[in-house]
Amino acid sequence: MPYPLEQACFVEFLAVRKPKYICEIGMSLGVSLWLMSRAATDDAVVIGVEHTKDLPAKDFAAYGRAQQTLITVRGDAHTPETVAEVKHFLGGHLLDVLYLDADHTVEDLAIEMGCYVGLVREGGIVAFHDAQDVGSPPQEAWNALRAGRPSTCFWGDGYGYGIAAVEMVAPGKVTPEPIRVKG
Ligand SMILES: C[S@@+](CC[C@H](N)C(=O)[O-])C[C@H]1O[C@@H](n2cnc3c(N)ncnc32)[C@H](O)[C@@H]1O
Repeated sequence: MPYPLEQACFVEFLAVRKPKYICEIGMSLGVSLWLMSRAATDDAVVIGVEHTKDLPAKDFAAYGRAQQTLITVRGDAHTPETVAEVKHFLGGHLLDVLYLDADHTVEDLAIEMGCYVGLVREGGIVAFHDAQDVGSPPQEAWNALRAGRPSTCFWGDGYGYGIAAVEMVAPGKVTPEPIRVKG
């Protein structure tokens, strides 16, 4: 679960970009995904990937607004079948936003970045949750990806939390100082 202030700031950050294609790895009950859908276009395609068997049967689709399509992909994000399913729902489009919030191990993040970062369009956003702890795998993954790219972070309060984002432009463009929001 995100810390409210960091999440509100992140949603505002997304809203000015008007994302249409969004995917979250590790959607759980869909709190972050639903919040991101509020920042998305009226016709957005918002995909959540989750492997727990405990997901409610109720379809996440019911929570979209306007002409939005909210999709739950039930499966292990690390399998080729799940990647293929995400691509299927993207219908040949690339992601405007990829949000990584599954298990935050070095190994899992490496797999997820290998599977999904290539699906993000030029200028799209890759964001990591629970990234504020120095040395944590999400912060290390963010540091690696943001080298030479614009990046932003929104920090929560206390241990854990923190959303860190990278704009996927070609490395070497201007990198502004991160904005830090203390909750
Ligand atoms: C921290 S919770 C996500 C919270 C959610 N993003 C939110 O903001 O409400 C992490 C979720 O990732 C899921 N998860 C972990 N590894 C996964 C994988 N390989 N494939 C799909 N889901 C995974 C877990 O089952 C868990 O529900």
